[in-house]
Amino acid sequence: MVVYNPLVARKFKPGQFVIVRVCEEGERIPLTIADADDESITIVFQEVGKTTKMLGQLNVGDRILNLLGPLGRPTHIENYGHVCCIGGGVGVAALYPVAKALKEAGNRVTSIIGAKTKDLIIFEDEMRRVSDELYITTDDGSKGEKGFVTDVLKRLLEKNIFDRVFAVGPAIMMKVVSDVTKTKNVKTIVSLNPIMIDGTGMCGGCRVIVGGEPKFACVDGPDFEGHLVDFNHLLSRLKMYEKQEKEVMQAA
Ligand SMILES: Cc1cc2nc3c(=O)[nH]c(=O)nc-3n(C[C@H](O)[C@H](O)[C@H](O)COP(=O)(O)OP(=O)(O)OC[C@H]3O[C@@H](n4cnc5c(N)ncnc54)[C@H](O)[C@@H]3O)c2cc1C
Ligand code: FES
Repeated sequence: MVVYNPLVARKFKPGQFVIVRVCEEGERIPLTIADADDESITIVFQEVGKTTKMLGQLNVGDRILNLLGPLGRPTHIENYGHVCCIGGGVGVAALYPVAKALKEAGNRVTSIIGAKTKDLIIFEDEMRRVSDELYITTDDGSKGEKGFVTDVLKRLLEKNIFDRVFAVGPAIMMKVVSDVTKTKNVKTIVSLNPIMIDGTGMCGGCRVIVGGEPKFACVDGPDFEGHLVDFNHLLSRLKMYEKQEKEVMQAA
């Protein structure tokens, strides 16, 4: 979805996100900025619950009630050498501006993108444009290699070619990526996706444990060093409101 908002569009840096509220009684949801020009930002979202479904029902010319951003610390970009950018599902949209900036900074970029099935592979052309090599995986083998992004990563890591890995996707994917790169000691940056509410560091909703210390993903992140993240804590917090989310969807 392309949203006209010149103030946010001009300030945006890769890795940042916005918090939107669709209607007066609606919840606030974070969405990464996938791209921007001088006037507009692009957000890409998966319709998983009530708010993202409502967002998907908007028509061209409709207004989003509130949009706060750009939020979060931008991804640290420099010329590391050879980087591997890994995206899963809708996370590929958030990975794209990071991969693009890494390429512009002079890195050799190898990308691996994956999804459950071929229809859920997004941003393939965009990722191909900013990558020196692009690998695609699907869980069911309907496009690219059958399997997970981490299967390709494991194979490529055998060659010891990467100076840094960046991963954006479901928490479980980022956990496995971090477990795999730890065995080869390759520094890995992940973009965490805890439940967020205010996005200003005040509500504590997005608390994550990194290096044994509590951090707020909205202001300290969302990027963190994957090897230091307590993913089990993140995965259990992501399930905290499952019952309420189901109730809201059933009532809708
Ligand atoms: C920094 C950040 C960037 C994100 N970027 C994107 C993106 O670019 N595209 C995209 O599709 N999704 C993104 N997400 C996830 C997105 O915010 C959730 O899918 C959305 O909030 C779901 O809301 P819902 O009401 O439709 O579903 P619900 O039924 O409320 O929730 C469905 C699932 O979404 C997650 N979720 C719910 N509320 C939140 C919340 N406030 N914050 C974080 N996760 C939540 C939970 O895991 C939950 O189980 C991002 C999350 C974070 C933290
Ligand atoms: S979302 Fe409230 S502290 Fe981060």
